[in-house]
Amino acid sequence: MPFILAIETSCDETAVAVLETPNLLRANLVFTQIARHRPFGGVVPEIASRCHVEELPGLLRRAMSEAGLDWHDLDAIAVTQGPGLASALLIGLAAAQSLALRLDLPLLAVNHLEGHLYSLFLDPAAPQFEACTPFLALVVSGGHTQLVRVEAPGRYRLLGQTLDDAAGEALDKGAKLLNLGYPGGPVIERAAQGGDPRRIKFPRGQPTERIGGLDPEFCFSYSGLKTALLYHLKAQPAAGQPPELAHTAASYQEAVFDALIERSARALAREPVRFFGCCGGVSINKRLRAKLADLAACAGVTLLLAPPKFCTDNAAMIAAAAACQIPLVPGAEKIPRLDAHPEMTLATRGGDFPRLEK
Ligand code: KG4
Ligand code: ZN
Repeated sequence: MPFILAIETSCDETAVAVLETPNLLRANLVFTQIARHRPFGGVVPEIASRCHVEELPGLLRRAMSEAGLDWHDLDAIAVTQGPGLASALLIGLAAAQSLALRLDLPLLAVNHLEGHLYSLFLDPAAPQFEACTPFLALVVSGGHTQLVRVEAPGRYRLLGQTLDDAAGEALDKGAKLLNLGYPGGPVIERAAQGGDPRRIKFPRGQPTERIGGLDPEFCFSYSGLKTALLYHLKAQPAAGQPPELAHTAASYQEAVFDALIERSARALAREPVRFFGCCGGVSINKRLRAKLADLAACAGVTLLLAPPKFCTDNAAMIAAAAACQIPLVPGAEKIPRLDAHPEMTLATRGGDFPRLEK
């Protein structure tokens, strides 16, 4: 079976994986740069790219040794082309291109969002991608919040998305206002433990107007939520301190998740599918996973969730997304050069995505 080496450097994780297709993961290494960005309260693009440059060579060597392979055993090199930070994507692309040229291998460009979709199928116990189509997917990461109908590998239809902040971004910004640090998702989840999610009624950000051809019923808006938190903390400073902090964090997190659940419920009521997946960094959250399980049970669909290690950015999902391209890219077809696509959407792989004009 072919061996794919995959590289992911779209944001603040430097990741390398080796996949023996169709689904035997030989190596999966992630270097998380969180500690390097934490003093700045968020991802600093220059630090991210420098860190990728420093960490990638060692990770590549370790991944090959863990996979028990020689460089010449590889059959293809896969790399995230976008979306992401331009300067960070370029590091992975340069490394992947050099390896593909040096080893005379095909270079497979992967859409990071498509990678997240494939993370749902990395667990050996998960069903096969093709066996679940068509299915609905909720992609929730630091940069994206999208409801997508997956018709087949490479064929996606956008049903709704956020008009401003992504769910992960809303958690990151909320955590900053609460002085909880970065990244926001995990620190809010921890702070919310034991808190009452109904204590404060934060807005659920329901857009009302059709934007970019998308039905507002399936769209999200999180910008008002962080403003609501800001005003709440101004009016009641104690809400940002223990013991009230747990209730504030729980209520804020609940507002982010309720919007996701409500719009997904509507989409599931409209689209007759048997499977519903949720992927991306935010999908690691235990409260969200419990709410998604309830939703799936009510809607009568099977819930697809990635194991926690595949929710946040990793290269295993990039390898899995690349594996489905292998029949499409004959071995002889070599791609000499790839540019970074920081604004890439799922449409880049044949989807039907309207342009969103803010
Ligand atoms: O998919 P991902 O690793 O990177 C992007 O593609 O953006 O997602 C990162 C996002 C961040 O906003 C982070 O706060 C969020 O995932 N996240 C979480 C948790 N862990 C990470 N959100 C909620 N609960 C968590 N435990
Ligand atoms: Zn991601």
